Amino acid sequence: MLNIGVLISGRGSNLQALIDASECGDIPAKISIVISNKSDAYGLERAKKHNIPAVFINPRDFSDKNSYERKIVETLKQYNVGLVCLAGYMKIVGEVILTEYKGKMINIHPSLLPKYPGLHAQKQALEDKAKVSGATVHFVDEGCDTGSIILQAEVPVLENDTEDSLSARILEQEHKIYPEAVRLFVEGKVKF
Ligand code: GAR
Repeated sequence: MLNIGVLISGRGSNLQALIDASECGDIPAKISIVISNKSDAYGLERAKKHNIPAVFINPRDFSDKNSYERKIVETLKQYNVGLVCLAGYMKIVGEVILTEYKGKMINIHPSLLPKYPGLHAQKQALEDKAKVSGATVHFVDEGCDTGSIILQAEVPVLENDTEDSLSARILEQEHKIYPEAVRLFVEGKVKF
């Protein structure tokens, strides 16, 4: 069975969606390791509740980004990871991880890419007075949220939306399309 490694920075609700889908057999793969760059990421607790190894790797313990990323790759390899899922991992992935996992690394982003890449995608949609926004699962490449798109889901942007209300509406869709995109990858139905 394919081993999945999940990289997080915070709440981990997308991680939870992946864990649930794996446990109920919707994804024929195992979440084998969760890595966070933040010590207080709630996602670490979620993983532990499901007996999934979960580690905090502190970027500040390393002299540069490459050595930090080498530690991440080493950890993923210990668990024989064949797919890396970024789930609210708020760091730009650099060349060390990409060299190892390009084509085997996917990300979820809270907009209909290529619209609103980068930080605060929901705020960008509101400021742009968009009528629709949504979520995207895509392969990770060298750019910021530029990799090939696997799945998208659309949601309306309502007139009185706040960043919170729009984020919640998008998140609901994220929790559906992320497990679905992982399933497509694991079943060999999408390739980089
Ligand atoms: C999600 O909305 C995800 O799409 C977004 O962060 C949130 C993480 O929530 N990711 C990005 O903005 C990446 N550029 P979660 O920790 O509850 O899954």
